[in-house]
Parts: sequence; structure tokens; C-alpha cells
Amino acid sequence: MLKIIGGPASQLLASRVARELGTNPTLCDFNRFPDGEVYTCIQDEQLEDVTIIQSTTTDSDIVYLLQMIDACEDASSINVVIPYMGYARQDKKFKTGEPISARAVARTINADRVFTVNIHEKSVLDYFSAPASDLDATKLLGSHLKSLNLTDTLILAPDSSAESLAKSAAADLGMDYDYLEKTRHSGDTVTIKTKNLDVTGRDVVLIDDMISTGSTMAESIRLLRDQGAKDVYLACVHPVLTRNAVIRLFNAGVRDIFATDTIEKAQSCVSVAPLIADAVRNL
Ligand code: R5P
Repeated sequence: MLKIIGGPASQLLASRVARELGTNPTLCDFNRFPDGEVYTCIQDEQLEDVTIIQSTTTDSDIVYLLQMIDACEDASSINVVIPYMGYARQDKKFKTGEPISARAVARTINADRVFTVNIHEKSVLDYFSAPASDLDATKLLGSHLKSLNLTDTLILAPDSSAESLAKSAAADLGMDYDYLEKTRHSGDTVTIKTKNLDVTGRDVVLIDDMISTGSTMAESIRLLRDQGAKDVYLACVHPVLTRNAVIRLFNAGVRDIFATDTIEKAQSCVSVAPLIADAVRNL
């Protein structure tokens, strides 16, 4: 009997996945001790094949995930879905003395199978001891885009590394796609240069794997609006949207922001539940 267990960061997504699979999510208690340590208790003693779904946006989310895996020690198989994996951007040593944080986190996951969704760097999958696969949500974002009925739409990635996302989102829609040129100066400052693109009067959708501080997208929006774009929309898989990102993006002139529910935010209007349900079904 397949059991779906949703961690505190992915309650809605886990419920949606369970519904796709025709089952109910397993009830779990999550709490904190007075000293701040987190507490987990799964309210089901019949654990056979379990799928645990938990994004790891915060450090506590990682500990909750480890607790859920440990609590399932008697299950016959454990699949772990980490829809948004924090620390995935720390995928290499940028200077001597640093850890590879993505590797440090991946090594703690003791499971039979691991799934992520549009992980920032695919090579991180090799750090898990279990077979790990990355699911691609860009086509789901593309379908949502289609329903917006935009004008002469151009899908743009803010840098060359996100071009494949723009290409995939545009693929079934017959829309144009391209990318801008980004240089990162620090955690929250970037400069964006345009290529030879005519965006005059066009609706532009900027797409990236995640929006964190919003610096990348705010700079891109300003540039595109200066160049005569009609409306600029933002699409991302992971709406990290930390600090004052949303205000920065609206101040820069964004028309709307849409994202998936790998992180459950007000912007998460596209669900990755069908993707995860298919992956679990096909195991
Ligand atoms: C970086 O390579 C990522 O794909 C995103 O472009 C980046 O993480 C966005 O960060 P921020 O919103 O802080 O500019």
C-alpha cells in the first residue's frame, strides 16, 4: 500500500500528489520543543512503500526530512521527493576551506530513490547515495503561460544557463525564446545586458529556475521595459522570493509573477503534483 507523507514545507503539494494517486496523505504531527528543536511523529503504524515529500527551503526543513526518513525505518521502501532542494546552488567549492554544501546535504538522505524538481545543478544528483532523478516542470509553466493569452510573446531566460528552461517552456507553444546576458557581482547585485533583441510592443515572459532576492529579475525587467516591452511577466519553478523580493519586482514594473508549488507561496499557481505522481506511479 503506497503511503504519501508530506513534510511541513510541502503539505499542500503532498496532498495534491496523494489525490492524483487516489489515496489520502498520511497524517503527521510536526512541532517544536521549548529549546527550538523540531519534532515529528507519523500517525500511521502500517508503513510499507512510502513516499516522503518535503522541500528544504530552511535548515529546519532538512531536519524534519531526516526525522521523517528515520521514523519510516520499518517501511519496505522509502522514496524521497525534495521538490525544492536548498543548498543546491552551493554545488562546488568556490574558495579553499569551503564545503560543497549540496553534497553535505545529499549525503544525509538515506532512501531507496530520490526525486528533485528542476534542481539548480544536475551534477548534485550524483551526491545522493540512492539513484536520484530530476523532474522538469517547465512544460507545466508553459501550459499556464498559454492560458494567459499574451500578445506576440517572447520567452526569455535572464542568462544562458537558463536558456534550456525558456526553450522547453516555449516548445509546445510555438513561441520565440532567447536569453539575456547576466553578470553576478554579489549575492544580491547583478548586471544584465541585452542581446540584439527587439522587444517593442511584445509581452515578455522571463523564466528561471528560481527567484531568490529578485535582483536578477528586477534588473532584467528594467532593461526590457526601457527597451519598449509591453508587459513583463515572471515565471519560475521555485518561488524562494526572500527578503523584499516581491516589492523589488513590482517596483521594477513586473505585471505578474507565477511559479510552481515546489515552494508553497501566493505565487504558486502551477502544481507539480502530476509530475511527481507520474514518477511515483512509474517506479
Ligand atoms: C542562478 O543561477 C539562478 O538560476 C537564479 O538566476 C538566481 O538564483 C536568482 O537569484 P536572485 O533572485 O537572488 O537574483
